[in-house]
Order: sequence, then C-alpha cells, then structure tokens
Amino acid sequence: MFELLTRVPDDPILGISAAFKRDTTPLKVDLGVGVYKDDHGNTPVPAAVKRAEAEIIAVQASKAYLSPVGNPGFNAQVLELVMGADHAGRKGDAAAVQAPGGSGALRLGAELVRVSSPGSTVHVSDPTWANHIPLLGSAGFKIERYPYYSAAKHSVEFDRMSAHLEALPSGAVVVLHACCHNPTGQDLTLTQWAAIADIVARRGLLPFVDLAYQGLGDDLERDAASIRMLARQVPEMLVAVSCSKNFGLYRERTGLLIALTSSAERAAIAAGQLGRLARTIYSMPPDHGAAIVDRVLSQPELRRSWTEELAAMAVRINGLRGLLADGLTSRMRGSDFSWITRQRGMFSRLDLTPSMVETLREQHHVYVAPDGRINIAGVSQANVDHVATAIAAVMASG
Ligand SMILES: Cc1ncc(COP(=O)(O)O)c(C=O)c1O
Repeated sequence: MFELLTRVPDDPILGISAAFKRDTTPLKVDLGVGVYKDDHGNTPVPAAVKRAEAEIIAVQASKAYLSPVGNPGFNAQVLELVMGADHAGRKGDAAAVQAPGGSGALRLGAELVRVSSPGSTVHVSDPTWANHIPLLGSAGFKIERYPYYSAAKHSVEFDRMSAHLEALPSGAVVVLHACCHNPTGQDLTLTQWAAIADIVARRGLLPFVDLAYQGLGDDLERDAASIRMLARQVPEMLVAVSCSKNFGLYRERTGLLIALTSSAERAAIAAGQLGRLARTIYSMPPDHGAAIVDRVLSQPELRRSWTEELAAMAVRINGLRGLLADGLTSRMRGSDFSWITRQRGMFSRLDLTPSMVETLREQHHVYVAPDGRINIAGVSQANVDHVATAIAAVMASG
C-alpha cells in the first residue's frame, strides 16, 4: 500500500531553516521562519509562562482527561482577552472551544462550517499565510482568493477587495487576518474594518477571522479591535486564536476557536457540535499550554508580567521596522521604505525576485522566505547594517 505514496516536496520555509542551520558563517541572519526572536536571535519563553509552568507542575495532582472542548478556565480567559471585558455586547452568544494551536482552531472551525454548510467556498486574501490553503482546502472546501495587497503600492487594495466581497454569494466564508497580516504586515484601518463589517452583514457572509498575533502589532486591545467591531455588526462569526506567538507556547499547541452565534441557545449547540468534531479528530486538545495561559491570565501578578513582556516585544518589532527602513533608505537614495514602518507584526514583504532571494542567501547569508517575506523580529541592532547592505545590494543589481 505504501508503495503507492509519492514524495512530498520539501516545505520551502522549513527548507530555509535547515539551510540556515548548515551555514557556518557567523554573519548569517535568519529572517525566514515566523517565530519571534530577541536581540540575541533566541525565541524566549516569557517569564510569566515559566513561572506558571513551574507552579502548575508543583500543584497538579492528576493528568486525568479533561474534555473534548478542553480547559474551561482557558476557554473563558482567552474568550475575554479577545472579545474584551464586555464581550463586545455579545456575552453568552459565543461557543469557545480549545484547539491544538491556531492551526487546529482553523481546522475545527472549517469542520463546523462543513457540518452546517457543506457546499461553502472559502475566500482567502491574496496573498495569505501559506498554510491557510492546505489547512482549509483539505477540510473539503473550494478555496478562492480576494484581492488584498498591492505589492507596487505597499498598501491594501481596498476598493478591489470590497468590490470582490460585495459580489460574493450569501454564505461564502471569508478568512480575514485580525491584525499583523501574514505575509505582508499590511492591516486594514478601523474605518476599512467598519466598511468590511457592513458588507459582510449585508451580504450574509461568514467572517472567519484568524488572530495569531494579538499583542504583537500595537497592543492587546487595538489588535483585537477588528474582531470586536465585527462582533457588534455581524450575527455570526468564527475566530481562530493562536497562543503560539504571544505566549511563546509554539510547540505546546495552544489555541481557541470562537464561534459567535445569534443566541446563547445556538452557542450551546455549536459547542456541542465542536466537542463532537474534536472527539472524532483528536479526541481532546493538549492541556499543558492551556493550563499555563489560564494561570497567567487569572493571576494578576503573572498577567501584569506577561502583558509588559508582550508590550516590550511589540515595541522592539516596531523599533526594528524604523531601523530597517532607515537603513534601506540611506543605502538606496530615491527609494521610499517608510511603508515598512506603517506595517505591523512580524512580517513585511520585500520586492525580491526568487533569484534575488537566492543571491541574498548564497552571497550575503541572509535567509528570507521564497516570496520575499521577512521576519522583522530576526533583524537586530547588531545585524541591521549587514541586512540593509545585503538587501540594497541585491535590489540594486536586480
Ligand atoms: C496567520 C497565521 N495563522 C495561524 C497560525 C497558526 O499558529 P499555530 O498553529 O502555531 O498556533 C500562524 C502561525 O504562523 C499564522 O501566521
């Protein structure tokens, strides 16, 4: 049977990581894989997460099963972190179910749509996070793209985006990045979100919002403002939340799916369906990361420490944006890189051809994703001159 299997092509981003590890030059810089990095190139575990983890290990008396919908404390805490203290006026209307990471939440949400509306088409931004398409496509949906980013103007093509959404049939699923758009870093303004919320409500579309970077763009409140605005205007919505980046819990696979429905009764039905779906796929989500998040958010001292550390991460990323933009502008007179400072989150996409990406890697030891996406957090005070010089050199020769 297994002789029929064909070889899977290497994942381009993981391939970059492997090539980076093999490179022995001290000058090398990894701007490829999408994890937060500090000034030393390390991906830290926040101090509050470390402390919560130690406390949990000390007091946890049992590791008996919890439930297909996960840890109730985690579900309630993260629901409130996303929706705000007043739940955007929709308290009780949401089913909140733990999932294995943001990816697991996306998949669980897709399975729920498949149960309630099997023929739906899922529309993703052009471009979008590379894994959206296989994740949602393998749940059986046809995937289409809506116009989103103009590489030439380094801005959202808002008119084309809204015209596209206006023309979608009722019931179409629209995947939206709540903040820190991956791979472009280009987010909608709140005025644009209000217009999208209006179209979604009028056309009867289902927003499926991906929130993977809350707190890493501006701050915890502003990064969730898009979701809260939608929640006030649309009857139904899905939100896939990842705790990988903002809690530094990547490998612990910690996420939440929120299904906002039109009533508390429907929310209970949705939660029941989600529990059943989870049971049929992986039975129950892993608890360790969720228990940590629950503890961090419910203990005021841990919460304060985590919020401060997260805020410092966002400040650092936004500072690096300025540093890189200045470095590029000073080396490429006449070119404008101020758009890098207007974008948010870990990513921006440079105008690099595949051969420029290769030259950056082979000649300058700077590793970026094949589409020119760079992880801003991989830039540091120590390497910014090298990075800017290398990018300017390949752009000038290309
Ligand atoms: C846009 C986006 N959504 C979802 C995820 C999923 O995160 P995870 O499954 O690791 O929690 C990521 C991770 O890189 C992402 O960038």
